[in-house]
Amino acid sequence: MDDPATRSISHAARLRGDVRPPGDKSISHRALLLALLAVGESRVLGAGDGEDVRTTAQVVAQLGATVERVPDGRGGADYLVRSPGLAGIREPDGVLDCRNSGTTLRLAAGILAGRPSFAVLDGDGSLRARPVRRIVEPLRAMGAVLHGRHGDTLPPLAVVGRAPLDPIDYATPVPSAQVKSAILLAGLQAVGTTAVRETIATRDHTEVMLRARGVAIRSTRAEWTSSDGRPAVGWRVEVDGGAEVRPAVERVPGDVSGAAFWLVAGAAHPDAELRIVGVGTNPTRRAIIDILRRMGATIDEETSETPAVQAGEPIADLVVRSSTLRGIDLAPAEVASTIDEIPALCLAAALADGRTRIRGASELRHKESDRIAGIAAGLGALGARLTVEGDDIEIEGGRPLTGAATDSLNDHRLAMTFAIAGLIARGETTVRQPGSASISYPGFFETIERVRA
Ligand code: S3P
Repeated sequence: MDDPATRSISHAARLRGDVRPPGDKSISHRALLLALLAVGESRVLGAGDGEDVRTTAQVVAQLGATVERVPDGRGGADYLVRSPGLAGIREPDGVLDCRNSGTTLRLAAGILAGRPSFAVLDGDGSLRARPVRRIVEPLRAMGAVLHGRHGDTLPPLAVVGRAPLDPIDYATPVPSAQVKSAILLAGLQAVGTTAVRETIATRDHTEVMLRARGVAIRSTRAEWTSSDGRPAVGWRVEVDGGAEVRPAVERVPGDVSGAAFWLVAGAAHPDAELRIVGVGTNPTRRAIIDILRRMGATIDEETSETPAVQAGEPIADLVVRSSTLRGIDLAPAEVASTIDEIPALCLAAALADGRTRIRGASELRHKESDRIAGIAAGLGALGARLTVEGDDIEIEGGRPLTGAATDSLNDHRLAMTFAIAGLIARGETTVRQPGSASISYPGFFETIERVRA
């Protein structure tokens, strides 16, 4: 894709059409990494073809699998992975470059923690600013040696694994599917049962996909006393060490986080009807659909042309129409379950009647950019009234947006949020570093041009 330094998006008179979002990024990463753990041949069909997923494919190849990627003819990629399996993972002969992808780095660290090898995980400037202490602590407790920059808090991250690992029973201090997944992948390589407890249910693709590959994963409601002595309730996910991961052939559902941009565009634009085809509606990922409905969005879920379940995940077509939106209050638990959709949700809030309060959004500061700062600057430039206090965001909606210069901070979700804002704002909006959209959504700007036609 041509990658101009800025892109202009002018107001669209109407939005119509069918949109197929890319294969789910979280599921695509996991499908490739689990293919590395399985002896034999796995196929990942319709994977997202963004930069992040390609990065994981490269890391999987560096660790000893043969990876073939062919375009699937509709914007995604089909992968054929042949792997010697977990025991055959090779010590990488160079740094594992995870580029912009936090999921690649954290999940690969979980795998490498159980391998008797030395590996260094590094990335671009953005990834080098993202916290790793959250995986260093539990993986160390399991017996691996990990060191990072800045007092073991930032990448590059060196991992000297140990085989076998000790099991742990770990309550995650931050709601993070990446942390949970890293521990479960290490837990496969421990002697005994490893458990992760979380008070907020994060995306459960690792669990769903391990189950589909023959690994017994148990997820139950649980109560415990947290380290500060307070009672905690949540979920406990357990995996037994030594379980064999079988190879699989799976089709990846459409990415609900990519679909979110069209849901907001369709609901907030005054003359819109969009059908978003083949979207994964996993209960731990679909909160954005239900929250937008709570704001007044008309979103119908229809049975998709594709099978209703793909990769063990439910699928639907989402039909969204112009709606009158109203502001809402979002509690910290809801922030965790819409963490990647908050930028788009803030745009919806700016265009809704009344006030929206988003509380406890601190994790947004640790994504590909400080997304709280980025949203405040970009939507503010367009005329939204938005105030930030600590990690809380308050948006006074209902002010018309006017085209202006915005900066994606090289963060894909901000680039797409401001581009969608440009379709709705009066006049012309520019987005700086728009190419970042291709991290998760190659072809996003082409789709913008198509739906406005
Ligand atoms: C992801 C988990 C989330 C999310 C990221 C993908 C995953 O990160 O923001 O885009 O695939 O597990 P955290 O687990 O750090 O919240």
